[in-house]
Amino acid sequence: MRKYYIAGNWKMHKTVSESVTLAKSLVSELGSCGERVMIAPAFTALAAVAEVVKGTSIILGAQNMGPDLQGAHTGEISPLMLKDIGVKAVILGHSERRHSYGESDALINKKVLLALAQALEPILCVGETLEEREGGKLESVVGTQLREGLKGVAATVLDKVTIAYEPVWAIGTGKTATPEDADAVHAYIRTVLAGLYSEAAAKSMCIQYGGSVKAENAAELMAKPNIDGALVGGAALKVETFGPIAQFRS
Ligand code: 13P
Repeated sequence: MRKYYIAGNWKMHKTVSESVTLAKSLVSELGSCGERVMIAPAFTALAAVAEVVKGTSIILGAQNMGPDLQGAHTGEISPLMLKDIGVKAVILGHSERRHSYGESDALINKKVLLALAQALEPILCVGETLEEREGGKLESVVGTQLREGLKGVAATVLDKVTIAYEPVWAIGTGKTATPEDADAVHAYIRTVLAGLYSEAAAKSMCIQYGGSVKAENAAELMAKPNIDGALVGGAALKVETFGPIAQFRS
């Protein structure tokens, strides 16, 4: 039976003590959850949350990282620093990074390659804006983000990469793509991956959906053949809302 990959992106929320409290509740709530569960607190809370999830099945993720190992890069966080405190996964190319902070496909690609070289598992986010969707550009936008983001990624390490499809218009808006619409884009993503790698690689790749995922729609989304997990924002901030998403099968 396939395991779903359910990730919580806490974005710019929670102090260290609030993060520790939530992480402790999640550890007790999801200790026996059958899915892969990841949480990505803010940088300042990572070390404290690492202590809470140590030895449990919950994976620790970061929300971003810098594109270099070390040096004069004021304000950046290196993958070495993340690894040092027990981070295993890293969200890269989130639409908020692309749109609010101007991250380019080239920069995101540099980070993806560096994360993999440092044995961190990247979640590469892709997704179109409403304007792009309505202008018929969905496939070209998502296709470019995938091709550029994965440039130079060897087939041998592809199993360490997750793709998250997050339509920008569905993030934090309460508007979810219908399961059918999301599944269709995921299928398109697999077509692009098959062209870049192989049918087999495309089939086995984990593709998460993100954008207003909640307990009420999680099971319906996960039932779709091309949806392998969820990247959750707002609903990841409380055990009462994230717990049921991660346990959507029970
Ligand atoms: P929401 O679940 O709040 O829509 O956020 C989705 C997201 O951006 C996760 O990375």
